[in-house]
Amino acid sequence: MNTRKLKKITNNKEFMENVNPIIINEKVQRMKQFIQHGNTSCFEHCYMASYYTYFICKKLHLDYKSASKAAMLHDFFLYNWRIKEDYHRLHAFTHGKMACKNACLEFDLNDKEKEMITKHMWPITVIPPKYKETYILTLVDKYCTMEELFVYYRSLFMYAMTYKIKYNIMCIMLEIKLFKAIRTIKYAIKEKLLMQAKLKI
Ligand SMILES: [Fe+2]
Ligand SMILES: [Fe+2]
Repeated sequence: MNTRKLKKITNNKEFMENVNPIIINEKVQRMKQFIQHGNTSCFEHCYMASYYTYFICKKLHLDYKSASKAAMLHDFFLYNWRIKEDYHRLHAFTHGKMACKNACLEFDLNDKEKEMITKHMWPITVIPPKYKETYILTLVDKYCTMEELFVYYRSLFMYAMTYKIKYNIMCIMLEIKLFKAIRTIKYAIKEKLLMQAKLKI
């Protein structure tokens, strides 16, 4: 997670007071064990989505308290979605419901919060949301996904470029060393031939 962004979020007292009862939950903490996109864990993804949702809803004078709470729990499914298992075969379509079910077992949620979690994958989930906050979460979720994938692929690209630059420098160094070695051998042969010629005279 970007440390500057993280500092900005943790310095926001109102947001932290709102999500703290959720993030201290032992099962919510377990989201740190599962990767969501690129190198980002489920926990980090939800945490960022929660902050952006809180920020936008507050600016628009919407229910930012419910919105940040639901956004923090929107991917609370606790499994590795890359490993194919029968109970989450259609992950994209079903994980909203699974997250809502898990969230209801741990927290008291109102209808809006339940809808936000269940329908955060809209339009994949087809039936349109009822609340404005849900639309905001669907957009924020997609934005966070794009950002996380961009950061991941950019780091891979940078790594590949650094590796290529290092490889090219190494090749140049080897060529220089080889050139110097050939030149030294040439001089040695020339010197020897000159000595032999002098001895013959
Ligand atoms: Fe999701
Ligand atoms: Fe998500």
